[in-house]
Amino acid sequence: MVVERVHGAGVVRLWRGDITTLDVDAIVNAATRELAGGGGVDGAIHRAAGPELMRELRRRYPDGCPTGGAVSTAGHRLPARHVIHAVGPRWQGGGQGEPLLLDSAWTAALALAAPSISTGVYGFPVARAAPIAVAAVGAALAAPGTPLRLCTIVCFSETDLAAYRQALIGGSSDGGG
Ligand code: APR
Repeated sequence: MVVERVHGAGVVRLWRGDITTLDVDAIVNAATRELAGGGGVDGAIHRAAGPELMRELRRRYPDGCPTGGAVSTAGHRLPARHVIHAVGPRWQGGGQGEPLLLDSAWTAALALAAPSISTGVYGFPVARAAPIAVAAVGAALAAPGTPLRLCTIVCFSETDLAAYRQALIGGSSDGGG
């Protein structure tokens, strides 16, 4: 654990590591519209969950999921109980509604843990993606009646972590860790 911040009755936690190892209620995948698996975190989640994950996706969501949306499945062989498959926008320079679509993907996906949607293969600049993500997570945790209590944003690289840390705590000191 690297940084924590309280939002309403909940907590946003920023953590560096492999999201497939988290023993939580749900992790969030950065998926494609086809929900067909892929590289990056999507490939890692499918490898760790086993082939049952793809079978469930094909059976329940044969038409895939639009950009900005999310669907959920069981976690199968993962320690996480559920996987929420969020489809972020591919970065195309910022003039194609990408920030709104990324906010929509985060809002649709909000659960207990999430990777850095759209900032890998899809090329969304992480310095611009992190404030959208942190705002969406904070709003969801502070929403009246939400069952969410802890949301962990999982960053794979030190560079991503620095951008999310900046978005979460700015220049202030953190809880260490
Ligand atoms: N745990 C946590 N984060 C991870 C892991 C992991 N095991 N593996 C990769 N990441 C991070 C990347 O470092 C990046 O910061 O996830 C973030 C999102 O990157 P991508 O996985 O490339 O996702 P995205 O940019 O949304 O592109 C989606 O990539 O995964 C494929 O099939 C997916 O084609 C789709 C595209």
